Amino acid sequence: MPATTVSLQSSSVATWHRGGHVVLCLALGGLLVACDDKTAPPPAAAVQQMPAEPALARIYDSSCKLCHANPAAGAPLTGDVQAWQPRIAQGADTLLDHSINGYNGMPPMGLCVQCSEEQFLALIRFMSAQDLQ
Ligand code: HEC
Repeated sequence: MPATTVSLQSSSVATWHRGGHVVLCLALGGLLVACDDKTAPPPAAAVQQMPAEPALARIYDSSCKLCHANPAAGAPLTGDVQAWQPRIAQGADTLLDHSINGYNGMPPMGLCVQCSEEQFLALIRFMSAQDLQ
């Protein structure tokens, strides 16, 4: 049998998990108030948010966003104030050091080799949705 007869069947993975969760919440809705996934990060919102300044938006779009708007990357997501809070508490100097030199899964310069220190700080302020300390 020729090798070209291999078929691809992996594209039909269904996502029933989510639907089941909603049904359960509706059934318990009268008794419980815990069905709103407030603690989960908002992937859709994170993917859509962009810095207001065009130059910064371009940098963000081609570097930080690849991971910081991707729940699978393990990075604190853009707009997820809770995830950013303990990191912001480290202070601006540490955050800048980790941005420039890397930190675990965070690559050196966050893949933006031309970024200035001011731009890193502005990007962190944007992604964390809070002021630096
Ligand atoms: C290749 C993926 C990737 C890219 C691109 C990326 N990051 Fe990250 N970043 C991560 C990951 C993963 C973490 C979490 C690291 C950890 O806590 O172990 C992180 C964490 C951080 C932190 C927190 C560090 C700390 O001390 O807690 C800052 C600040 C940061 N990134 C800034 C940026 C900026 C600014 C950009 C764009 C210029 C960027 N990142 C691009 C993956 C990325």
